[in-house]
Amino acid sequence: MNGLQGYGKNIGKTIISGEEIQQKIKEAGKILSEKYDGKPLLLVSILKGSFIFLADICRALTIPCEIGFMRVSSYYEGTSSSGNVDIMLDLDNDVSRYHVIIVEDIIDTGRTLKEVADLLRKRAPLSLEIITLLDKPERRTVDLKADMSLFTIPDLFVVGYGLDCGEKYRNLPFIAEYSE
Ligand code: IMP
Ligand code: MG
Repeated sequence: MNGLQGYGKNIGKTIISGEEIQQKIKEAGKILSEKYDGKPLLLVSILKGSFIFLADICRALTIPCEIGFMRVSSYYEGTSSSGNVDIMLDLDNDVSRYHVIIVEDIIDTGRTLKEVADLLRKRAPLSLEIITLLDKPERRTVDLKADMSLFTIPDLFVVGYGLDCGEKYRNLPFIAEYSE
């Protein structure tokens, strides 16, 4: 009995605890606060998966920042995204006035994020970097690297801390393995 029976039998081992996540976010917040001190900063959260990470990373900053949201939907070919994205929700910020940090939950094949990063780059931000909570480098099919990734994980399907399976489990306060 692990106290998680309410979440169902598909939730397996905890991969990263809530405490480990908070520790890494604190460290990342310190680095980013020093780097962007005195600069206009816009955090761009890619919905829905990054909403919890965004909420924690923005509160770990000790400098002012603005927040923007994008929602993109990528087409799937089999179990991986194709990289063709539709923008369901776009930013209302003029990106050219900001140093932009894209805040992502997980980079898998990298196709979706590459499309988003290319699109934002065309809008000429003062600078652009990518920060991701989780990275599965083994799965990458395009040339995309996060500037900062908090945790590198193996090729597993994980849920929690914003990440879903069929829209569920985003509310788990840690990252767990999911199995059918
Ligand atoms: P990519 O274009 O293949 O990099 O797709 C990344 C997106 O796939 C993420 O933003 C997640 O929404 C989803 N994803 C990839 N791996 C996982 C996982 O292990 N758990 C939950 N969602 C995942
Ligand atoms: Mg998702």
